[in-house]
Amino acid sequence: MAMADRVQASACRGSLAEMAVDPSPPPPITDTPTWRALVEHADSLQDVTLRRLFAADDARAERFTVEVATLTVDYSKNRINETTIDLLTALANAADLAGARDAMFRGEPINTTERRAVLHTALRRPADAPLVVDGIDVTAEVHEVLSRMARFADAVRDGTWTGSTGARIEAVVNIGIGGSDLGPAMAYQALRPYSHRDLTFRFVSNIDPAALHEALIDLDPATTLFVVVSKSFSTIETLTNARSARTWLTDALGPDAVADHFVAVSTEADLVADFGIDPANMFGFWDWVGGRYSVGSAVGLSLVIAIGAERFADLLAGMSEIDEHFLTAPWANNLPVILGLLGIWYTNFLGAETHAVLPYSEYLARFPAYLQQLDMESNGKGVDRLGRPVPVDTGPIVWGEPGTNGQHAFYQLLHQGTRLVPADFIGFVEPVTPIGSHHDLLMANFFAQTEALAFGRDHEDPQRAFEGNRPSTTILGQRLDPRTLGRLIALYEHKVYTMGVVWGINSFDQFGVELGKVLATAIEPELISTSELAHDPSTNALLHRYRSRSGVV
Ligand code: F6P
Repeated sequence: MAMADRVQASACRGSLAEMAVDPSPPPPITDTPTWRALVEHADSLQDVTLRRLFAADDARAERFTVEVATLTVDYSKNRINETTIDLLTALANAADLAGARDAMFRGEPINTTERRAVLHTALRRPADAPLVVDGIDVTAEVHEVLSRMARFADAVRDGTWTGSTGARIEAVVNIGIGGSDLGPAMAYQALRPYSHRDLTFRFVSNIDPAALHEALIDLDPATTLFVVVSKSFSTIETLTNARSARTWLTDALGPDAVADHFVAVSTEADLVADFGIDPANMFGFWDWVGGRYSVGSAVGLSLVIAIGAERFADLLAGMSEIDEHFLTAPWANNLPVILGLLGIWYTNFLGAETHAVLPYSEYLARFPAYLQQLDMESNGKGVDRLGRPVPVDTGPIVWGEPGTNGQHAFYQLLHQGTRLVPADFIGFVEPVTPIGSHHDLLMANFFAQTEALAFGRDHEDPQRAFEGNRPSTTILGQRLDPRTLGRLIALYEHKVYTMGVVWGINSFDQFGVELGKVLATAIEPELISTSELAHDPSTNALLHRYRSRSGVV
């Protein structure tokens, strides 16, 4: 069914109010026969190496390669055989992945703990594909905001939008944190060659004064535009940075300058107005867009200013292609599902604790950090949707650095260490900014590393031997452009969801970030007072030291 047709179905089934309560909670996935079969299967593969698997099957590379648009994903260098994929796809069925996927796309309140729909996929629906949820056509709302973003970005890019003195904007400072920073910051860096080179972009997230200090040090208030991004408009880091930025601006240009130099991206119009930003200069989004899934919403405003609305539309189109693929491809050819199931295989059946993301592209330097939030904030959960403890490990520790830098830092452990570290290698056929033979050298390393990891090298000296059998997945794109980046982002979004569905967890809340915030709020006034402290002995002692060394007592 094409996306537009699926909308009809959504119109009658998409109501938040209509969600039926499931009377009989399903057993945990670990209690299913498929899970037990996978445990046994993993046991049977214990002594099987990648060398043996390749030697036994000439067609293995082809069999375990999927092409979608310009992305080729070769997952043959993983410790799997066809039975593994059969069992893993059976597991996806046991977890009703299809039902969960369709419920998400329809706008059902699958974020059960916060009673919200999860509709980042609606952000990239074509304008002619309405999606009615609770009687509202969310596609129409999305495109209305996209049009406003495009008009505003054009005005900044062509100099029609000026600062309060009439000077053109030369620098855009995005202030946000978490999903309100990582998405636009990662994508800006990834797409820098496509950006307006006369404009400077800075991304300030950390509350550490160093971040704002360094971002503003060489900027001129008269030519600087601040984009304050916060879904809740109550995140302490963002509001503190935004207030200090406002002081920096008004000290130079007076209080009236705020209107021309501050815009906001938020779901909270009242709080934006309280801050002093004209709601006419606010770009909205919706509670059904999670922070870490929000780069395709108004949260991407700085990116739209950087690369222009047309290229941003290309990014969304790339995401939409993967949405369509996730919706329609059989599991064994469904890229996000395959990546997700491989993640389950390594985490739960082979005991891997981490997952490396290794982009062979300097432009993707922030992609691992972006995926850290996407994956770890989504799937770092210990209880399932019904509040039952999940009896197995959930989200892996995600980490990575661009190649070839990583090769000269941590690859030693990948090649000869004792741990199992599945890795995604991401590379491109064409360089965006070629210089001599650099790109071929980069890509020679890209291919060599996965070969060395999988097949190793025999050597009489154990210090120099490489045992191989170290798994990797190769993701090869044609060229890093907006559409390709969109495909990559959506690929990982749906991978993460696939894993969350198998574990039965809610991938869309993040209560785990709350406790630290609450405690920090209590501690802040204690740092500058002499009040009694009532924490644990370690924290009390540390706070006393801080007070005395900073001259409070
Ligand atoms: O870290 C917690 C979190 O809520 C993230 O999920 C979110 O992306 C980030 O804080 C920023 O939140 P906001 O956009 O509301 O400022």
